[in-house]
Amino acid sequence: MHSKTSPPEPGPRDPGNRQDFLPSNPPQLLPDPAFGAPDAGGSSLGERLYRSAVMAVLVIDRVEDAVPLARALIDGGIDCMELTLRTPAALEALAAIRREAPQMLAGVGTILTPAQVEQAQEAGAEYGLAPGLNPRVVQAAQARGLPFAPGVATPSELESALELGCRLLKFFPAEPCGGLPFLDAMAGPYAHLDCRFVPLGGITAEQIKTYLQHPLIWMIGGSWIAPRRLIQEQNWKAITTRAAEAHRLALEIRNSHHAQ
Ligand code: 3PG
Repeated sequence: MHSKTSPPEPGPRDPGNRQDFLPSNPPQLLPDPAFGAPDAGGSSLGERLYRSAVMAVLVIDRVEDAVPLARALIDGGIDCMELTLRTPAALEALAAIRREAPQMLAGVGTILTPAQVEQAQEAGAEYGLAPGLNPRVVQAAQARGLPFAPGVATPSELESALELGCRLLKFFPAEPCGGLPFLDAMAGPYAHLDCRFVPLGGITAEQIKTYLQHPLIWMIGGSWIAPRRLIQEQNWKAITTRAAEAHRLALEIRNSHHAQ
């Protein structure tokens, strides 16, 4: 199903200051065809997400906040986002980030309809996520070639996602559901199918290390890095500080893990 990979070269969007993440190569290819195919730079999207390790979940109210926000995150070392489709400004904010902060891995979240799959992709989404599993949405993403991680929180949802061919899954809402012990127990019977998870929902910086050292976890994230209030206040400095802390913690665990 999967094979060992040689260390991937940095992709074209990898900024020079991210050399610190290069030892953190995925232990194996992600067996999800949507996330697994190498891009023009030789890295797959799955590998780039793995190296990013932490995804900032964003709710953007004003388009003009989008680019300074993306730059504040990148300055702190976070180059991966789930920009949620929960505000009227979301799609325009996405397009602005793609244009002016292209090193940001541009994921879109809260994709709830097939029409939103199309809108997100047209605005520049590189991948999509959703809080739940809607087969129509997953199939629309597959038909358009948009890598997609649906949300799962039960074994039945996990089976439906696997049946649809998904292997990278959002575990949501991670902490209220029981966090890592719950995920470990739920995913146990499916471990041989090589799915991997992005836990989101209720996670904070304190939990980064515990999650990232578990073999089921591809990356983690949440809104604590750039809470809506700090975005509304345009407090870019505070967001960079939070991003830098998340990046530092992720780096520590990934480097120690891969050194073993
Ligand atoms: C979401 O889709 O809202 C994310 O999972 C974020 O959850 P959080 O706000 O609890 O971090």
